[in-house]
Amino acid sequence: MSLQSHILAEEQQYPGATGDFSWILSAISLSAKTIANKVRRARIDDVLGEHGESAQNVHGEQQQKLDVLANELIMRCLGDRANVGVLASEEDEEPRLLRARGEGGRYAVLFDPLDGSSNLDFCVGVGTIFSIIKLSDEHPTDAEAAILQQGVHQVAAGYVLYGSSVVLILTTGRGVHMFVLDQSIGSFVLVERDIKIPTVSKTYSVNEAYTDTFPPGYKQYLSWAHQEGYSSRYIGSMVADVHRTLLKGGVFLYPPTAQHPSGKLRLMYEANPMAMVIEQAGGKAINGETAICDMSPTGLHQRTSVILGSTEEVEHVQRFL
Ligand code: AHG
Ligand code: MN
Ligand code: MN
Repeated sequence: MSLQSHILAEEQQYPGATGDFSWILSAISLSAKTIANKVRRARIDDVLGEHGESAQNVHGEQQQKLDVLANELIMRCLGDRANVGVLASEEDEEPRLLRARGEGGRYAVLFDPLDGSSNLDFCVGVGTIFSIIKLSDEHPTDAEAAILQQGVHQVAAGYVLYGSSVVLILTTGRGVHMFVLDQSIGSFVLVERDIKIPTVSKTYSVNEAYTDTFPPGYKQYLSWAHQEGYSSRYIGSMVADVHRTLLKGGVFLYPPTAQHPSGKLRLMYEANPMAMVIEQAGGKAINGETAICDMSPTGLHQRTSVILGSTEEVEHVQRFL
């Protein structure tokens, strides 16, 4: 079962389907294959390293060349899909309004074109994260207002992990499915349907270097976890850390720190899509107080703290908070 046939089979479940949505998913698949090629050949094509001396993205982070390339690739692949109204990226300050609703723009795709890109130069897993929402009539011309929707309204979400193999994780609200890119045929093939996150796993994933600046509850949780014999795994690429958590269980945390008092990860194109995937797999995703998917966004690039993974493991953290 290829990704393409999976998408079409799912579309058959909705007699009234127009096929618009399937088009978008196929564009994401095309982008993923193209970016995978670029990542595989990065050192050869010498696109590693930083994109020009002064180039920084909206967050003042040094932009890697591949961040920019991946961003342009996705913009092009998705941009020519007739039903995409708005595209919003971690790499662009403003969302791009491609088509108003009157011209067929029915969906918006928000994405992190290359997550964990600081790891690129030494061959550690990096990824692409995407979130798909439907545009309403409320904000026909204000692209930012149109896409600032709660995560609970996402119609699809997922990520691509460019790791030892290229894995695509997708949910459209009916379970989480995993595809692996079969390079010999150039297609993503379904390897697991309806993934459920293990309910218990004594593993936490956090950058312990910042422990001293975490709010007290997180420090108490970590001391408890050390007493309980937990193991720690932290790669520093959210996609890689979340994918391990999805398949092995455990809890991934990015708490508030001195440098990022409201957390480092971005709500709209990192936390929300990952929260939808984890919840669809039977896990939990909160910001310390409430469910991430219930947060009312105020800005495209706003940040949030993230605690996500096996429900029981997230609740151990919650107890200390
Ligand atoms: P991006 O490369 O898209 O900016 O994301 C990097 C994020 C995320 O991938 C990861 O979980 C986090 O940065 C790691 O941050 P620290 O290096 O502060 O641990
Ligand atoms: Mn990221
Ligand atoms: Mn990124």
